[in-house]
Amino acid sequence: MAASRYAVIGQPIAHSLSPRIHPLFAAQFSIELSYEAIEIAPAELAVRLPQLHADGYSGINVTLPHKATVAALCESVSERAQLAGAVNCLKRSDTGWVGDNTDGEGLMRDLARLGIAVASQRVLLLGAGGAARGVIAPLLALQPKELVVSSRNPWKPEELAERFKGRGPLRPCTHLALKGDHYDLIINATSAGHDGSMPRLPGPLLVSGGSCYDLSYGKAHAPFAAWAQSQGAAKIADGLGMLVEQAAVSFEIWLGKSPDVEPVLAALRNS
Ligand code: ATR
Repeated sequence: MAASRYAVIGQPIAHSLSPRIHPLFAAQFSIELSYEAIEIAPAELAVRLPQLHADGYSGINVTLPHKATVAALCESVSERAQLAGAVNCLKRSDTGWVGDNTDGEGLMRDLARLGIAVASQRVLLLGAGGAARGVIAPLLALQPKELVVSSRNPWKPEELAERFKGRGPLRPCTHLALKGDHYDLIINATSAGHDGSMPRLPGPLLVSGGSCYDLSYGKAHAPFAAWAQSQGAAKIADGLGMLVEQAAVSFEIWLGKSPDVEPVLAALRNS
């Protein structure tokens, strides 16, 4: 029997680590699986997605720039993906694609793996774009004492507070207005690290013994890591664990099996 076919779609796509992660998961269960990286331009998505279904693909991961637009091409979309405003995992049905979002669950699992608590903690989420939107509902579900979302632009956190109204203690803020606050956990969901920068923040913001978690990894993690060190963080983590954890959630959705993320994370860190 031919191996089941899976893929990640995006543009650009060559940098994606997913084609390395899923075969390592599959090997843990002696499952034969092919996993490709397929570059698709935004204008081609509506044509290519049904083609991938016709070609027999069993599951697709979706990355930039398609995470927000692919929902309209799915036959159904999970509630968590609707809340996140993004779909990153497609599962084949007989008649089309079922959309889901595994990013938020990936972050929750990684925080648990690292022993970083959210319940009853004061949590600061830096950034108010798509990455921040994707993790707010799962963070609130863990019942922090307070979740503050801040960005340079005052309107973006305000809009997120409206979107997640009634789900928990979410407070919108600007970076400047954080002055004098102290948080147990600070999560970086800005994309500033990708151009080597870090948002300008007012003075000390982390309690002694606090933790800093970055949704970015690789080179993009360096500016936040340096800032976290300057704050005296007891724990500093990049987002590679979240990447592997969200992939594990996709793998479970597709194949009903829970892979061990630790050896896969170690393999990625060693290469
Ligand atoms: P994504 O969709 O991946 O979350 P994004 O929406 O482009 O990416 O950016 C996420 C956040 O990074 C935004 O909230 C943006 O901050 P502002 O709302 O303050 O503009 C933040 N961001 C991006 N580049 C930044 C930079 N150079 N300095 C500070 N913040 C930055």
